[in-house]
Amino acid sequence: MKPCHPLSFSCLLALVVFTGLSEVTAQPKGYLYDESKVAPYELPDLLKCLDGTKVANAETWTGKRRPEVLRLFEDEVYGRSPAKPKALRFEVVEESPDALSGKAHRRQVVIRLGKGKKALSVNLLVYLPRKAKAPVPGFLTINFMGNHTVNPDPAILIPTSWIRNGNGIKDNKANAAGRGSRSSRWAVDAIIDRGYAFATVYYGDIDPDFHDGYENGIHPLFPPADPKKRKPTDWASIAGWAWGLSRCLDYLETDDGLDAKRVAVMGHSRLGKTALWAGASDERFALVISNNSGCGGAALSRRRFGETVKRINTSFPHWFCDNYKKYNDKEDECPVDQHMLIALSAPRPVYVASAVGDRWADPKGEFLSALGAEPVYKLFGYAFGASSQPPVDQPVHGRIGYHVRTGKHDVTAYDWGQYLDFADKHLK
Ligand code: GCU
Repeated sequence: MKPCHPLSFSCLLALVVFTGLSEVTAQPKGYLYDESKVAPYELPDLLKCLDGTKVANAETWTGKRRPEVLRLFEDEVYGRSPAKPKALRFEVVEESPDALSGKAHRRQVVIRLGKGKKALSVNLLVYLPRKAKAPVPGFLTINFMGNHTVNPDPAILIPTSWIRNGNGIKDNKANAAGRGSRSSRWAVDAIIDRGYAFATVYYGDIDPDFHDGYENGIHPLFPPADPKKRKPTDWASIAGWAWGLSRCLDYLETDDGLDAKRVAVMGHSRLGKTALWAGASDERFALVISNNSGCGGAALSRRRFGETVKRINTSFPHWFCDNYKKYNDKEDECPVDQHMLIALSAPRPVYVASAVGDRWADPKGEFLSALGAEPVYKLFGYAFGASSQPPVDQPVHGRIGYHVRTGKHDVTAYDWGQYLDFADKHLK
């Protein structure tokens, strides 16, 4: 391949794309944004087992079809993750009963993973409503820029792990100027005021978000020690982040301020994909929320609307297992589509949120995927409540929740308002 001039537009674009520098979703040219041009497609049958058995009841789903769908997602999409490790320790490194102007109790916990030079320290920030008498339900979230960016609270520890450059970050090191810089995305006050705990973890503490050949972060702590020996079904970064969320839940199970049986897992964009995979692979999560998760998250891949499988595998080769690359430009050959991922949360409540301006993530494809999961909810006697995509800013809250809001790719107070109402219905 001829090297491009370092200052040419395409070279800069390639740099942004290949290093994953950009977290903000634009609408790259050359992709499909016209609904009338979506080619006909056929979704894999959620209710037909690999041996042809029809799934006619909840027992067959739970005992037979669900395990095989889960295995297909592991082997073909996200990769297989290790079990809960033995080398896992929790240390409360900081706490205060008087946080957030006195309304919350703050705990900061280090989750220690692995041994030796590459051992990891994952920092979990937890706020508990101070007024609560009994253990409360809560939201476990995963953030892009460090726990200190979710709220201006000056006591939040600043990460020392890799962080994306840009937005005031140089040399991949977080700094105090970032305090509270992402607070618009995290309705911490509203969450505490409604009587929920709020917990968050920085994804870079678990695995850095660039293609490092799986040399850093969580992967080298587990076999295969030599990345060259990886199999096409081995876990990649999304599975790593999701696995990290399960380790956070392991800690929350030991925290008596919180009821770990009533924890919602939530993430945005690539971390919305992560939240869906965390909810699918760990049934301890009581409720699952995907915010603008798009391709490889809630959106149906077979629609090829906005981001495609080939594009995501090319821009972010470290997100999915190597087998997923088989489906570049061959979405129809994949034995799963993303409605089956949502169905893996059943019968637990699941929420899919879209934004009308976020066409790269295919809002309609996100809705159709939620709708496509409904047959499994019906086996358990639950309904979605929508049969076609609801109008903008008109949420539907059945056992499956969905809204498409005004605005762009982001997490807003409006989104949190819906998640809180939905959680009130299902977790209280
Ligand atoms: C890119 C990527 C999306 C992803 C988003 C994000 O736009 O193409 O798949 O969801 O980044 O995580 O912000």
